[in-house]
Amino acid sequence: MEWHKLFDNIDAATKAIPASGIRRADINGIKVSLVNYRQQIFAVADQCPHMRASLAQGKVNPFGEIICPLHHYQFNLQHGQEAQNRCEHLEVYQIEVRDDGVYIGMY
Ligand code: FES
Repeated sequence: MEWHKLFDNIDAATKAIPASGIRRADINGIKVSLVNYRQQIFAVADQCPHMRASLAQGKVNPFGEIICPLHHYQFNLQHGQEAQNRCEHLEVYQIEVRDDGVYIGMY
Protein backbone atom coordinates (compact mmCIF):
# COMPACT_ATOMS: atom_id res chain seq x y z
CA MET A 1 0.00 0.00 0.00
CA GLU A 2 1.16 3.53 -0.76
CA TRP A 3 0.64 6.24 1.80
CA HIS A 4 0.03 9.85 0.82
CA LYS A 5 0.12 12.73 3.23
CA LEU A 6 -3.12 14.74 3.23
CA PHE A 7 -2.65 17.18 6.11
CA ASP A 8 0.07 18.19 8.60
CA ASN A 9 -2.07 17.16 11.55
CA ILE A 10 -5.66 16.45 12.59
CA ASP A 11 -6.30 20.12 13.46
CA ALA A 12 -5.37 21.17 9.94
CA ALA A 13 -7.63 18.42 8.58
CA THR A 14 -10.67 19.42 10.63
CA LYS A 15 -10.05 23.06 9.75
CA ALA A 16 -9.95 22.26 6.03
CA ILE A 17 -13.06 20.06 6.25
CA PRO A 18 -15.74 21.46 8.56
CA ALA A 19 -17.76 19.15 10.84
CA SER A 20 -19.92 16.79 8.74
CA GLY A 21 -18.37 18.33 5.65
CA ILE A 22 -17.01 16.62 2.54
CA ARG A 23 -14.08 17.69 0.40
CA ARG A 24 -13.08 16.16 -2.89
CA ALA A 25 -9.41 15.40 -3.41
CA ASP A 26 -7.37 13.98 -6.24
CA ILE A 27 -4.73 11.50 -5.10
CA ASN A 28 -2.54 10.44 -8.00
CA GLY A 29 -5.48 10.70 -10.38
CA ILE A 30 -7.94 8.91 -8.09
CA LYS A 31 -10.83 11.05 -6.90
CA VAL A 32 -11.73 10.59 -3.27
CA SER A 33 -14.19 12.24 -0.92
CA LEU A 34 -12.71 13.18 2.45
CA VAL A 35 -15.18 13.46 5.29
CA ASN A 36 -14.97 14.99 8.74
CA TYR A 37 -17.32 12.96 10.90
CA ARG A 38 -17.09 13.70 14.63
CA GLN A 39 -13.56 15.09 14.32
CA GLN A 40 -12.37 11.96 12.56
CA ILE A 41 -11.32 11.91 8.92
CA PHE A 42 -12.71 9.25 6.57
CA ALA A 43 -11.89 8.68 2.92
CA VAL A 44 -14.11 7.01 0.34
CA ALA A 45 -14.19 6.82 -3.44
CA ASP A 46 -15.81 9.96 -4.81
CA GLN A 47 -17.81 8.05 -7.40
CA CYS A 48 -21.04 6.49 -6.16
CA PRO A 49 -21.11 2.75 -7.01
CA HIS A 50 -24.76 3.07 -8.10
CA MET A 51 -24.68 5.51 -11.04
CA ARG A 52 -21.42 7.36 -10.52
CA ALA A 53 -22.57 10.65 -9.01
CA SER A 54 -19.94 12.60 -7.11
CA LEU A 55 -20.40 11.88 -3.43
CA ALA A 56 -18.57 15.10 -2.58
CA GLN A 57 -21.84 16.82 -3.58
CA GLY A 58 -23.74 14.74 -1.04
CA LYS A 59 -24.24 15.01 2.69
CA VAL A 60 -23.16 13.23 5.86
CA ASN A 61 -25.90 12.08 8.23
CA PRO A 62 -25.71 11.68 12.04
CA PHE A 63 -25.22 7.90 11.67
CA GLY A 64 -21.83 8.11 10.00
CA GLU A 65 -23.12 7.62 6.47
CA ILE A 66 -22.44 9.58 3.31
CA ILE A 67 -25.60 10.20 1.29
CA CYS A 68 -25.41 10.32 -2.48
CA PRO A 69 -26.90 13.50 -3.98
CA LEU A 70 -28.58 11.65 -6.86
CA HIS A 71 -30.76 8.86 -5.41
CA HIS A 72 -29.90 9.29 -1.74
CA TYR A 73 -28.34 5.89 -1.15
CA GLN A 74 -26.51 5.83 2.17
CA PHE A 75 -23.02 4.40 2.52
CA ASN A 76 -21.32 3.61 5.80
CA LEU A 77 -18.10 5.60 6.09
CA GLN A 78 -16.23 2.77 7.81
CA HIS A 79 -16.95 -0.20 5.56
CA GLY A 80 -18.79 1.28 2.58
CA GLN A 81 -21.92 -0.87 2.80
CA GLU A 82 -25.11 0.70 1.48
CA ALA A 83 -27.73 0.85 4.24
CA GLN A 84 -30.27 -1.28 2.34
CA ASN A 85 -27.81 -3.23 0.16
CA ARG A 86 -29.20 -1.59 -2.98
CA CYS A 87 -25.84 -1.64 -4.79
CA GLU A 88 -22.20 -2.61 -4.42
CA HIS A 89 -20.19 -1.39 -1.48
CA LEU A 90 -18.52 1.97 -1.76
CA GLU A 91 -14.73 1.73 -1.73
CA VAL A 92 -13.23 3.01 1.51
CA TYR A 93 -9.60 3.99 2.09
CA GLN A 94 -7.55 3.74 5.24
CA ILE A 95 -6.67 6.92 7.06
CA GLU A 96 -3.80 7.04 9.55
CA VAL A 97 -3.08 9.88 11.91
CA ARG A 98 0.65 9.86 12.58
CA ASP A 99 2.98 12.17 14.49
CA ASP A 100 3.91 13.96 11.28
CA GLY A 101 0.57 14.12 9.56
CA VAL A 102 -2.68 12.57 8.37
CA TYR A 103 -2.17 9.95 5.64
CA ILE A 104 -4.36 8.04 3.22
CA GLY A 105 -3.42 4.51 2.16
CA MET A 106 -4.10 3.49 -1.42
CA TYR A 107 -3.37 0.42 -3.52
S1 FES B 1 -25.93 7.57 -8.22
FE1 FES B 1 -25.62 7.48 -6.10
S2 FES B 1 -27.44 6.63 -5.35
FE2 FES B 1 -27.71 6.63 -7.50
